[in-house]
Amino acid sequence: MKEALRQQFGNIDIYLFDQLLKGTYDDCQLVLDAGCGQGRNVAYFLQSGYQVYGVDSSANHIASIKQLAAPFSDHSPQDNFRIGAVENLPFKDETFDLVISSAVLHFANDALHFEEMLSSMWRVVRPGGYLFCRLASDIGIEHLVRSIGNGRYLLPDGSERFLVSQEMLLSFTKALGATQHEPIKTTNVQNLRAMTTWCLQK
Ligand SMILES: C[S@@+](CC[C@H](N)C(=O)[O-])C[C@H]1O[C@@H](n2cnc3c(N)ncnc32)[C@H](O)[C@@H]1O
Repeated sequence: MKEALRQQFGNIDIYLFDQLLKGTYDDCQLVLDAGCGQGRNVAYFLQSGYQVYGVDSSANHIASIKQLAAPFSDHSPQDNFRIGAVENLPFKDETFDLVISSAVLHFANDALHFEEMLSSMWRVVRPGGYLFCRLASDIGIEHLVRSIGNGRYLLPDGSERFLVSQEMLLSFTKALGATQHEPIKTTNVQNLRAMTTWCLQK
C-alpha cells in the first residue's frame, strides 16, 4: 500500500496533495509547473492523464522531468518541458487550468523580480483557473529574520530568501483581482523558516 501511494504521488508537496484530496483541481486538464525542478509535483498529474507542462531555468532539471514524463508523451509530449524563466513564460495568455509554483518565488532577487514572476504566472492562468503557490514567508518568525535588502532576508536556518508577509500576500491577491479559495496557511519549521501556502483562483 505504501509503495502504491508513493508510485501514484511521488514526493508531492503535502499542501498540493491537500488540494487534490479536496477535489479543487478535478476539472483541470492543462497544468503548468513553473519552476518544476525534477518534477516531484507532476508525477500524479502525468499518471492521471493531465496535459502537463514544465518550465525551469535549470537544463539538468528539465532533462530529469523529461525522463519522468517520457512514458506519458501521448498527452504530455517532451516539448512541453522547456528551459526558461518563470518571469517570461513562453505561453499564450489564459492557457492553463492550473499553475503550480512550489518553492520558487522565494528565489526572487528583489520585489520587482517577484512581481514579474507572479504576473507572468497569473497571465497564463485561464479565467476560473488556479494558481497554487508555496513560498517562504516571515509569518510567525518576523522577529527571527534579518533584512539584507531588496526584500531578501537571512533566515535562522542560514538561508537567504525573498520573504513575503501576510499583508503582502493579501495585497497581491487584491491587486490581481484573485479569489483566495483557502485561507493563507503557514508551517513554522521549528522557528528556522516559515513556508506558506497561497491558493488563488482567477
Ligand atoms: C527548490 S526548487 C523547487 C522545484 C520544484 N518546484 C519542487 O517543488 O520540487 C526551485 C526550482 O526553481 C527553479 N527556479 C528558480 N528561479 C527560477 C526562475 N526565475 N525561472 C525558472 N526557474 C527558476 C530552480 O532552477 C529550481 O529547479
